[in-house]
Amino acid sequence: MKKIIALTLALMLTVCCLAGCGGGEANENTLTMATNAEFPPFEYLEGEEIVGADVDIANAIAEKLGKTLEITNIDFDAALTGAATGKYDVAIAGVTATDERRQNMGFTDDYYTASQAIIVTADSAIKSAADLTGKTVSCQEGTTGEQYLLDNGYSVQSFKTGAEAISALTAGKVDAVVIDDAVARALSSKQEGKTVVLDEALTEEAYAIVTKLGNDELIAEINGALAELKAEGKLAEIFEKYELPYDAE
Ligand code: ARG
Repeated sequence: MKKIIALTLALMLTVCCLAGCGGGEANENTLTMATNAEFPPFEYLEGEEIVGADVDIANAIAEKLGKTLEITNIDFDAALTGAATGKYDVAIAGVTATDERRQNMGFTDDYYTASQAIIVTADSAIKSAADLTGKTVSCQEGTTGEQYLLDNGYSVQSFKTGAEAISALTAGKVDAVVIDDAVARALSSKQEGKTVVLDEALTEEAYAIVTKLGNDELIAEINGALAELKAEGKLAEIFEKYELPYDAE
């Protein structure tokens, strides 16, 4: 009898351990975050390390929630799906809160305002959105930039990363890149003057944090943390560190 009890206990312990070790699973003391570190200055790799404004914001939120942040770097569409299905607590990746996405993901309050921008080569005849008609444009797969191009009938070439999208431009394979404005500037600044960002906003968008739809408890907790960070001037400080224009109202 004793043996059976001992065995049962041992088995229960094993099962509990296995359940607790399911990678990416939500744990009381951990905030799991999916991102796509191909989006400077919001998230990018510095050597092996994932850094950027979103990472600083995520760390500040986790600290307020008393949790340890655990970041997983994956494709952008996988980050969205991962948070929507609850594989990760959140996706923080410069994600635009759109009505379409709201159908199957939860969103916190907005924390940053952005728009889509056009990158062209320095010698390009394209000077505005009007000149884009009939052109081939590259973008990052699964993004609002891609959606904009598809909705407006452009010939689209989508890449896993914005860096590949801009490489297609400098290689002469496409006529322009459409990507979020701050990221356009960051990526373009690395092209040694070969590219420029046009001074025209194609859209108006707001970034928010993605959760599983209906995870209202977590959304409320994060909104509370965001409001505090805003009031404390911490958000403004983070955006300033990454040279991101920010209007703290
Ligand atoms: N704001 C755009 C969107 O939501 C692009 C975000 C891409 N983010 C990234 N980390 N690659 O679709």
